[in-house]
Formats: sequence, C-alpha cells, structure tokens
Amino acid sequence: MSKNLFRRNFLKKGLAFGLTSLFLTPHAKAKKESNNSIKTNDTISTINSLRTIHGNFTKQEIPETEIQTILKSSLQAANSSNMQTYSVVVVKDRKKMKKVCGYEGSHMLVFCVDHNRLKATAKHLNHPYYVDNINNFITGCTNTALVAQTAGIAAKSLGIDFLLTNGIHRGDMNRVYDILKLPKENCYPLIAMVMGYPTEEPKYKKGRLEGLGIIHDEEYHQLTNTELDKIVETYDDKTKHLGLNDRWRESGHKHYLDWLFTGWLKRAAKPTSSEGQMFKLLKRSGYVDLQK
Ligand SMILES: Cc1cc2nc3c(=O)[nH]c(=O)nc-3n(C[C@H](O)[C@H](O)[C@H](O)COP(=O)(O)O)c2cc1C
Repeated sequence: MSKNLFRRNFLKKGLAFGLTSLFLTPHAKAKKESNNSIKTNDTISTINSLRTIHGNFTKQEIPETEIQTILKSSLQAANSSNMQTYSVVVVKDRKKMKKVCGYEGSHMLVFCVDHNRLKATAKHLNHPYYVDNINNFITGCTNTALVAQTAGIAAKSLGIDFLLTNGIHRGDMNRVYDILKLPKENCYPLIAMVMGYPTEEPKYKKGRLEGLGIIHDEEYHQLTNTELDKIVETYDDKTKHLGLNDRWRESGHKHYLDWLFTGWLKRAAKPTSSEGQMFKLLKRSGYVDLQK
C-alpha cells in the first residue's frame, strides 16, 4: 500500500470512529470501550452455568442443611416494602410432587403469591387491610419470582440442579390448592421448582437471544423488518440452541419460528374468547379489582 493510500485510509477510519463515538449513546459507548471483554467470578460462573433439568432427576436426596441454605438464601431477594408477600411450600413426598406439578425430584418448592400471613397479623391487631386489587397481585408476583430465581442460583452454587415449572397451572388447578391446602383467598401458586441431581447431562446448553430486541439502549427500539429478519435467522441457527425443538425443518417448516407459532403456540393463533381457569382462580383469590 502506498504511503498516501495508507494515510487516506487511516484518516477515513479515524473520522468514522470519531463520528460514531459522537453519536453513540453512553451505554453503547461504554459497551464499545469494554471491547467485548466480559468479566467473570464465582457468582457469574454459577449464573452462566444455569440450565434446566427437564425432570430426569435421580433418587438421591438433597441433604436437609442444603435445603435450609437454599431457602434462607432465597429470602434475601428484594421485595416490595419488605412485606414478603409470598409463601414457599416445601414438598419431599415424590408422589405428591408428581400430582402437583407433573415432575418429581428430591424436593419441590412451590412459590405462591400470598397475603394471608399479613392479613392475619392485621386482623390480630385490629387493623383494616384489604388486598383486593391487581396491584397486590402483580407486586406479589414480582416478589415471588425473585425468591424462586434466587433459590435456583443458590441451589446451583451448591451443585444442585433444578427445574422451574408451571406444571401447577396445567389441568385442574384446584388439585394444587387441595393437595397443598392453600388458602383459596389471596394465595396463588405461581411457580414450582423441582430440585435434585440429574441422571444425565443435557446434550447442550440452551442459548439466549441477546442484544437487539432484548436490550434497548436508553429508549425502546421498535424493530425494523431487516432486524426482524435477523432475529428469525438467529433462531434458525442451530448452533445457537435457541429453540425448544431442533427438528423443525424435518416437519416442513422454513423457520424455527414458523414451527413455534404454528405448532407449539397453535392455541395462541386465535384471540382468547372466554375466561380461562387461571383468570377465574385469580378472581376467586380476590386479587382482581372490584370483584366483590
Ligand atoms: C415459567 C416457566 C415454566 C417452565 N415450565 C417448564 C416445564 O413445565 N417443563 C420443562 O421441562 N421446563 C420448563 N421450564 C424451563 C424452560 O423450558 C427453560 O428454562 C428454557 O427452555 C431455557 O432453557 P434453560 O433453562 O436450560 O436455559 C419452565 C421455565 C419457566 C421460567
């Protein structure tokens, strides 16, 4: 390359860099400067090693001290006004687990949005306290989900695997209330976690869609058609392991997302036409505005 050409290229690149830097948002700038070097430590490694065991747990029991450690750590999750609007039901009976969520392992934790303990203390002290609107439910869900995920991270850090499942919402949900003797009012089973040791390692670790469409820089970004095409393509890339099924091509689909929407999510192809079981139970629980 001639000296002049080299200088011209150098100036062009410098100018491009300067202009991009000028128009980059602070987050994008910081991201660029970090030069893609992702830090790690024990906690980050534990989080990055999370993966679901889809029910194939051995008969090995988790020691009680580890269960207590997981429970205690899970309660460190942030929660609104520190009111802990949840209850965690710990189940060791494998048959019971299977009936409640469809899976079994060493232990099952059922994380419920629950205001009964608070209501009882209010009544005990003669204070009026109504938990009769959706705000309580949504904040309760946030508190409860954070406890569940924190329990999962604590478990994994101790070498214990888990499955988070909404199997409790399949079939007649009244069985969950009946078997676990949950209060019908102001208590809603949100998610179950089955823990144990896997019989075999999953064949691969599932990936995640990252960046565009997931992380928004300073403000929400509506995806363009080109960006949507890119996302469809990313799901199609089998090396990324984003899908639930990697045999979608064999079943005649052009894209993984075609399989997802026409197969897995077939029922969502029509708008909801009647109140579902979850909504009815939500109304029974008293968490829906002005039901009484
Ligand atoms: C709300 C919720 C419900 C889930 N229900 C099930 C389930 O019933 N059965 C199952 O095998 N996995 C279930 N999973 C696990 C997901 O399938 C799994 O997290 C996802 O495919 C990503 O895989 P990974 O956790 O191995 O990375 C559930 C996860 C969540 C958060």
